[in-house]
Amino acid sequence: YTPSAGLPELRQAIADKFQADNGLSYKPNQIVVSNGAKHSCYNAILATCERGDEVIIPSPYWVSYPDMVRLAGAEPVIVQTNERNRWKMTAEEFENAMTPRTKMVIMNSPGNPTGSVYSREELEAIVAVAAEEDIYILSDEIYEKLIYDGVEHASIASLSKQAYDLTITVNGFSKSYAMTGWRLGYMGAPEAVAKAVDSIQSHSTSNPCSFAQKGAVAALKGDQQPLSDMHDEFDMRRNYMYDRISKIANITAVKPQGAFYVLVNISQLGLNSQNFADRLLSKANVAVIPGAAFGDDRTIRLSYATSIDVIKKGLDRFQDFCRTL
Ligand SMILES: Cc1ncc(COP(=O)(O)O)c(C=O)c1O
Repeated sequence: YTPSAGLPELRQAIADKFQADNGLSYKPNQIVVSNGAKHSCYNAILATCERGDEVIIPSPYWVSYPDMVRLAGAEPVIVQTNERNRWKMTAEEFENAMTPRTKMVIMNSPGNPTGSVYSREELEAIVAVAAEEDIYILSDEIYEKLIYDGVEHASIASLSKQAYDLTITVNGFSKSYAMTGWRLGYMGAPEAVAKAVDSIQSHSTSNPCSFAQKGAVAALKGDQQPLSDMHDEFDMRRNYMYDRISKIANITAVKPQGAFYVLVNISQLGLNSQNFADRLLSKANVAVIPGAAFGDDRTIRLSYATSIDVIKKGLDRFQDFCRTL
């Protein structure tokens, strides 16, 4: 076994990364390494939320957040966003969803499935609302390196002392380093939260895989050029996919600024997201995720985390299918 919160050398390397990339000073005892960022999010929710608490989640959301909240005994409160605001929750919408039971808000920028990136100013406004009632902010920043058009990634915890004290910053190796199966994610958190998470982890899963942790140290300390090559490849695929989608009649999409998805609004086609996805799969052999899974039945999600040849073929079929509706 390693220490349940992770190898000291990995926690130190993560602390160094937070400092260098995000302007965040976390001591190694504020860092817990888990079995994927998914596990980090779940641990963070378990450590802070309980029955009677409410957790605000902007929709469309990453599929697992509401169920993680329910597993902790708390209640998800969904705030519907829209294309006009690039699928982002405003501070006003956040404030309107707050009740005396609100314990946490979950932010995910760059976002899955929306590809949206919150600006520094938008995040500052969210922090101002959270700070009024000492609401925890779970900031899932797993797509931080996949961000385009010169847009800036702002880490919420770096915005102010108040933000730092309320925020649990989650990141991991699955997206930036394409190490999905290695199952390694981590959080930087206020000391008391990190301690509680360490305790939960030590009584549930113990440490994440020891030799995968060694791989993560190598990833953080090694040559970072592959990240930038991968980023450029994703950017090319994003432009291609968005250009093709924007030329298809009766569907709309916001050009994503981050992650590797395009969220397409299909509401003018007269099918709900599950029916659309089922028919597209059976008639055209193209798999997409129905937006209902992300809390928005008007949409489907395309991914460009596959080769450009597959993307081209998939979009040819997608376009032909849309013409038949
Ligand atoms: C927003 C978001 N957070 C977390 C994860 C999970 O990452 P991991 O593989 O590190 O558990 C994903 C993976 O799809 C994701 O999209």
